[in-house]
Amino acid sequence: MISRRKALKTMGIGSLGASTAFGFSPFVLAQSQTPENPLQIPPLEQGEVRDGARQFQLRLQQGTSEFFPGTSTPTIGINGNYLGPTLRFHRNELVSLHVENQLGEDSTLHWHGFHVPTAEDGGPHQVITHGSSWNPQFTVMQFAGTFWYHSHMLHTAGEQVYKGLAGLIIVEEDDQQLNLPSTYGVDDIPLVVQDRRFDDDGSLLYMSAYEDLVMGMHGDTILVNGTHQAFFEATSTLVRLRILNASNARTFTFAFSDVREFQQIASDGGLLENPVTLTTLELASAERAEIIVDLSDGRDVKLISIGKEPNFPEFPGAMSEIMRKLDAQDFDILSIRPQQELQASAELPENLTSIYRLPEAAATNTREFLLAMGSGMRSGEDRGPGRGTRNGNGGGYGGGQFSINGRLMDMNYINERIIFNTTEIWELSNSSPMMHPFHIHNGQFQLLDRNGAPPPANEMGWKDTVKVGSGETVRIIMRFTDFTDDEASYMYHCHILEHEDRGMMGQFLVVRE
Ligand code: C2O
Ligand code: CU
Ligand code: CU
Repeated sequence: MISRRKALKTMGIGSLGASTAFGFSPFVLAQSQTPENPLQIPPLEQGEVRDGARQFQLRLQQGTSEFFPGTSTPTIGINGNYLGPTLRFHRNELVSLHVENQLGEDSTLHWHGFHVPTAEDGGPHQVITHGSSWNPQFTVMQFAGTFWYHSHMLHTAGEQVYKGLAGLIIVEEDDQQLNLPSTYGVDDIPLVVQDRRFDDDGSLLYMSAYEDLVMGMHGDTILVNGTHQAFFEATSTLVRLRILNASNARTFTFAFSDVREFQQIASDGGLLENPVTLTTLELASAERAEIIVDLSDGRDVKLISIGKEPNFPEFPGAMSEIMRKLDAQDFDILSIRPQQELQASAELPENLTSIYRLPEAAATNTREFLLAMGSGMRSGEDRGPGRGTRNGNGGGYGGGQFSINGRLMDMNYINERIIFNTTEIWELSNSSPMMHPFHIHNGQFQLLDRNGAPPPANEMGWKDTVKVGSGETVRIIMRFTDFTDDEASYMYHCHILEHEDRGMMGQFLVVRE
């Protein structure tokens, strides 16, 4: 039997950003299994406006989840058993987050993608010890879009997120009149997509295979909003999917089973200028995209992820075979079933917003970041305290550890100092055999180019996480405004959480002079 990936490849749409029109191909629907479970929609938490701020109560807690009928899985969540509520923020509004840690271990909660002062950021320095609470407040400066929050605990972020410590944030702009599908859970659907690995007794397996150290934690089972084998019954002709790749390490290449086109309308930091027509969409860990799918033909369709041929060079030893297999896997993500009578959605506007492109000439400094395998000369002293294999058992090829500019994360070492109110170009290059999604705290940046070529249309919006493929050089441009602190730092890191936990992270200050 010809595999889905092969079939799509044969049709020539295996690569990122391809957007050619193809005919209907019935081969996929026929061979997939039937999903049984209605897609769970995370509860929408709007907060309560009091004392001039929108107040949210968030409790980190232990729980159990029933992903498979009759099997209970120990998990962690925020105000629930697994994952957290979707928080709705409004642009320019003050939010106040009351975070209470009842996990039984230390944690943090980071507002991924937000431009906030260091003390409110929820990075590894803002530890919330078990039994205590933390109350950050900040003004929402982001544009309307899809963001998220998750644990950023040093060395254990990977395990905590894996077990459920993450949730979505939707930012709204109250005066926006685009008529996009925006009824939460009805035609505006959050999709927190994760791959997980389970033991026979239903418990989550974490770091149970050697390659997890190198590749990051990959699973063979897909959960969407914590739902295994999910289906969604659509009631409108257009549906907006807010996709967050909340996997620890896996990159998904999303497509529809009948190869239909869809429109991407937003990237990490908000709307794109115009909808971008795609048939496949690649999202690495932590990247988000909002897409619009047209269901007016009334046909059932599946959102799938297509496995891909690895484009990295041979890994030494047996690892190359393992890596190949991990990336090559296809998945069903969500089955979409349009109901008999569909509500007619408003037409998608041709223009969504206008984006001010940061001019390259505005940059006063260029900084280079080398993402590399092994931890260079400093592997020993910078390794830091850790717990077992998570923290690495040596650099070099054997340990599969990755570093940035030859260093591993050190809580007491500031890697970069940036002058307040400047614009910088960061040149990210990757000499390692695998892709790393590079993430910077303190807000959103723009891509200048990838290997000297202009970025594809769907990477021309605001971004906070960017894929840097093996052998690639990606240049981004970012402004460092509003917040400055001589002591407290922001992070930059690989968003493969096992890489981050094992040291692929650095700190920067934004200083006055
Ligand atoms: Cu999504 Cu530093 O994190
Ligand atoms: Cu972040
Ligand atoms: Cu990485």
